[in-house]
Amino acid sequence: MKSLIDKLEETQELTHEEWVSLIGAYETPGLIDYAAEKARALSLSIFGTQIYFRGIIEYTNFCRNDCYYCGLRMSGNDTTRYRLTPQQIFDCAEEGHRLGYRTIVLQGGETAYYEAKGAARMVEIVRTIRERYPDTAITLSMGEMNREAYEALFEAGADRYLLRHETATREHYEKLHPPTMSFDNRMECLRILKEIGYQAGAGIMVGSPYQTVEHLANDMMFMADFKPHMVGIGPFQPHHDTPFANFPAGSNELTFFIVSLCRIMNPKLLIPATTALDCGRTDGRQRAVLAGANVIMPNLSPEGIKKNYLLYDNKPGITQSAEENLNKLRSLVEEIGYTMVVGRGDHPDKVKEKACAA
Ligand code: 5AD
Repeated sequence: MKSLIDKLEETQELTHEEWVSLIGAYETPGLIDYAAEKARALSLSIFGTQIYFRGIIEYTNFCRNDCYYCGLRMSGNDTTRYRLTPQQIFDCAEEGHRLGYRTIVLQGGETAYYEAKGAARMVEIVRTIRERYPDTAITLSMGEMNREAYEALFEAGADRYLLRHETATREHYEKLHPPTMSFDNRMECLRILKEIGYQAGAGIMVGSPYQTVEHLANDMMFMADFKPHMVGIGPFQPHHDTPFANFPAGSNELTFFIVSLCRIMNPKLLIPATTALDCGRTDGRQRAVLAGANVIMPNLSPEGIKKNYLLYDNKPGITQSAEENLNKLRSLVEEIGYTMVVGRGDHPDKVKEKACAA
């Protein structure tokens, strides 16, 4: 199996069959470490020991969708719903900038409130943040919208967009989502985002209910083909108030392996060490960095609302202030010999594009 990892490094692709045998063998002693060492070396050669950090502002937990895995699903009754005011969002952005963040991520559930009239309300928020902090990248993570809205937000100054595809296999997608949600539309949104010029982020949950090795192979094939700028990979974690409450959590080990394989397949990718790796532990994100991740996304949401933005149970960091959360993550990163850098942390190819345009 090590030879397949070597082949991936050389050719940056594998056949579906090869992916299935490689991923299926993840418990072979030494294999995860072999991939992690290669991935870490590649990450060090491109990004050095620098970890990019992004501040997430969870601006609303209202959501019209009913994804079977997510604690913010519309049918959830255990969640006190909130929506930050524009002023609260600006205060978080100001605090973030003061703390050294040069990427702000606005993440929220899908609601007509922000989508109406070409996302007019969010466009205003993005424009204000863009004007106030010209040195700061703006990332959006607000779900599926139409092209017009995505374009308006891009023109207002958004740089990046996170929209995990969740799974590249239609039948699996349909087991994770109700019939009101469409696999084709999700994929189409990703294509549109990239076409508009966003740095686009796809991604999956590892160990989501009904996921098979074939599905993961399809995800790797999809990412090889679509070439996202960012890939978010975290283990599935159950949330008590969802139809998937009784499914087991995904494996951290398999998540590290997939992170490493993504890095080896596409060395310049921006790969976050995701929060879901640290449910009930503190070494998950560290180990993801050692397996090739190069981004960490601390929480910038106001104190008091964090406990209402629970995609899954046991989410870490919800009792810390933004500053505490950042300091905690900074010391975890420093403990393993890396540093958090102040800077936008764009995808290497997008930095070049910008330099050429200037
Ligand atoms: N466990 C892990 N990740 C989850 N997400 C949503 N619910 C869960 C869960 N229960 C992830 C999805 C989504 C992202 C914002 O969070 O992949 O795209």
